[in-house]
Amino acid sequence: MSVSAMYPGTFDPITLGHEEILRRAVKLFDKVVVAIAANPGSKAPMFSLEERVELAEAAVGHIPNVEVTGYKGLTVDFARARGLAAIVRGLRAVSDFEYEFQLATMNRHLTEEVETIYLTPTEKYTFISSSLVREIARLGGDISEFVSPKVNKALLERLGRK
Ligand code: COA
Repeated sequence: MSVSAMYPGTFDPITLGHEEILRRAVKLFDKVVVAIAANPGSKAPMFSLEERVELAEAAVGHIPNVEVTGYKGLTVDFARARGLAAIVRGLRAVSDFEYEFQLATMNRHLTEEVETIYLTPTEKYTFISSSLVREIARLGGDISEFVSPKVNKALLERLGRK
């Protein structure tokens, strides 16, 4: 029996930290769908859904058994519709726990059919977040150690730095 999972998020943009979690997840599941939320809570993404999908595709589309797609609506509805047994999330620090616990508990309340599992990044990625990467880029810093070259280029272009 094959077991597939989804790795949902805003991915605005995808970072090397996300990529690392994904590489760990594909070792555990037959297939992992990187699912990019069209309506990610209260966030107002810098990149459109199409751009976020394109950047994620460029960064991780070549990894075997990985699919990148956008989705609308509830994460658990997407998981159920696609027959995905688990939601994978990265847990970087204790500060992530409260939000992630709430998300997982609410998702379980919505459906018992989908489990949430957490993977932890290596230390060098514990402090990365998409918003920090955007901020560093906006303020003229070097983000090349946090994102793939294509994402780096897209961010600099969006910020008028190239
Ligand atoms: N490396 C780098 N950054 C990481 C990371 C890692 N390993 N793990 C998490 N992050 C960062 C992200 O970059 C992001 O940073 P930001 O806040 O600066 O943008 C933050 O941690 C977490 O964001 P992300 O992983 O993109 O998830 P999210 O919290 O934005 O996404 C959804 C939340 C999309 C999964 C959630 O809102 C959702 O399910 N929405 C769909 C609608 C729904 O079902 N709602 C009901 C939920 S109960």
